[in-house]
Formats: sequence, C-alpha cells, structure tokens
Amino acid sequence: MSNAEEVKKALVQAADAARFAPSIHNTQPWRWVVRDGRLELYGVAERQLTEQDPEGRMLLLSCGTALHHAQVALDAEGWRYEITRPESPENGPIAVIRPADRAAISPDATRHFQMLQVRRTDRRTVSDEAVPDDVVSSLVKAAEEAGARLHVLGRDQVLELAAAVDQAQKAQDTDDRLRAETAEWVGGDRPEGTGIPASALPEELPLTTVAERDFQVRGTLAAGDGHDRGATYAVLYGTGDDAVDWLRAGEALSRLWLAAAEQAVSLLPLSGPVEIPSTRVALRRMLGGTGHPFLALRLGSLDPTHSAPPHTPRLPAGQVIEIAD
Ligand SMILES: Cc1cc2nc3c(=O)[nH]c(=O)nc-3n(C[C@H](O)[C@H](O)[C@H](O)COP(=O)(O)O)c2cc1C
Repeated sequence: MSNAEEVKKALVQAADAARFAPSIHNTQPWRWVVRDGRLELYGVAERQLTEQDPEGRMLLLSCGTALHHAQVALDAEGWRYEITRPESPENGPIAVIRPADRAAISPDATRHFQMLQVRRTDRRTVSDEAVPDDVVSSLVKAAEEAGARLHVLGRDQVLELAAAVDQAQKAQDTDDRLRAETAEWVGGDRPEGTGIPASALPEELPLTTVAERDFQVRGTLAAGDGHDRGATYAVLYGTGDDAVDWLRAGEALSRLWLAAAEQAVSLLPLSGPVEIPSTRVALRRMLGGTGHPFLALRLGSLDPTHSAPPHTPRLPAGQVIEIAD
C-alpha cells in the first residue's frame, strides 16, 4: 500500500471510530470529509437542536467529542498528526487532522481505543460508595491535559447545582417548542440511528439531590433504588467562550469520559443549567467568576446490581463520512 493509501485508510477508520462519540440527545451533529490526505470535520446544522441550543454550543461540544474520538483511533494505530481548529470557520471545516508519520503505539493509546466502545451514558443511580479521591484527581488531570478544567463541587455547591438544575428544567418544561423538539429526538426505539431510545432512559426518575434531566418520556431502564449520596459533582469549564473553546471542551469531555470508563466511574452530563442563560450565570458564580462553564457532570461508582443500559444507535458510516478523492 502506498503512503497516501495508508493515510486515507487510517482517516476513514478514525472517522468511523468517531461515530461512537457521545452527543447532545445523540444528534451526532458532525460530518467528516476525507480529502487530500486530511480529515475535515464539519458541524451539521440539520442536526442542531435549534430551540434548546440556538447558539450551537452543545453542537460544538458534541463535535469536539467526535474529534477526540478520531484522535484516539489514530493514536491507537501509532499515527502522529497535526490538528488545526480555524477560529472563524464560516463554511469551512471546524477542525482538520493531518497525519504526519508513525510512532510506536503506547499501551495507553490501545486502552483508550478499547474504551470508545465501553463508554456510554448511564442514567442508573450510582452506588453509595464515593469515587476515591485519587480517581477524582486523575479525572481533573485528564481534563487539564486536554486543555480544560474540572471544578469539583463541595457539599454546599452541590445544593446550589441542584437548584440550578431544577430551575433550568422548569424553564425547559414550560417551553412548548422546546418540548416538541425534545420529543423528536427522545423515546421509542429510534430505528433511524439517532436520538435516545427508551432503553437508555429510567423507568422512573430516581429521587436524587441533583435531578437527572427529565426528558418527559418514560423509559424502560431499571435505574436502581439508590440515591446520589455517593456521587461527586463537578463543572467542566475553561477560560474562553468562543466556538473553538467549546470544540476543545468537547475534546476534554471525551478525554475524561474515557478515563472515567477505564476506572469504572459512571459519568452523566447535565447540560440543562448551561443551556439556560440565568443558570449558566449561577454556574459561573460557583466557579468564582474565573471561567466559563461548559457542562455539569455527575461522577459515581457503578452500581453493579442492575445491568448497564444498551448502546444507543448510531448513523451509518455512509451518512457521516464522505470520501472526496
Ligand atoms: C454535550 C452533551 C450534553 C449532554 N447532556 C445530557 C443531559 O443533560 N442529560 C443526559 O441525560 N444526557 C446528556 N448527554 C448524554 C447524551 O444523551 C448521550 O451521549 C447520547 O444519547 C449518546 O449515548 P451514549 O453516550 O450512551 O453513547 C449529553 C451528551 C453530550 C455530549
């Protein structure tokens, strides 16, 4: 195989592996183009939640997780590469990956790649056993290595988060257009390859201090009768609020989610309070005004008494990957 063919094959494989990435409501709002030895990433406006996410922040976070997944796939094949993230992409790609040469494959890279298929959103209650401090520290480090920060909330701040989550949920519940949009993406069995199936949602919302997002759909997942006493709550944040910062935040989210999966820690994103301007301000205050909140997260030890939710569906490769040459 020529070098050009090898690069092309690796890029197609990387884009394919990125299909496993998490996204808001499983919208998978990305498209890849393999062209002239590079992999271009585009956001897809048709799969943006225009009511819930009019500014496209959650879309960019989601594209960032896909971008990181592609990097993990290239790392696992020993590729070295450069990434550019144009500041004002307009109609162009939001990121471009250009492979350079090969290096030795590290055991970390292989493990991270395996985690792409293990990671999932787990809305079951977590066990009462707290996530050990050294594991939380390793997740803080993983976020920092990916260019973001993780602020772990103390007890009082958990109550503030609970209030912000509650306020955001109420604001969203009383918005008819938003409810209609959610209903398009959530519930049922999702044969079209997008959205959140009933099998990934709890039969009943668990009674927790910080509420899970109420999608207004009854699921079929046995969520467990636990609480969130053992959970650790955190806010993923950064110093910038531009499009490129949200894209990078998505890369950090993927990085730390894979690290969590590797250590049997369940991670549940809580994006409601970031989506509503007033509660986003409340989260910002919790950071002492020093950063821009990207996402609130629940971290917990897995409760082994119930089986894990099945994987959510994904769009076929042909619908998200274009080979232009
Ligand atoms: C930016 C972002 C925000 C999310 N927000 C929430 C949320 O508020 N509540 C929730 O239950 N899941 C949330 N999720 C999880 C997605 O619903 C989940 O990633 C998607 O359905 C795909 O399922 P999977 O993660 O199991 O592969 C979010 C995911 C991302 C990437």
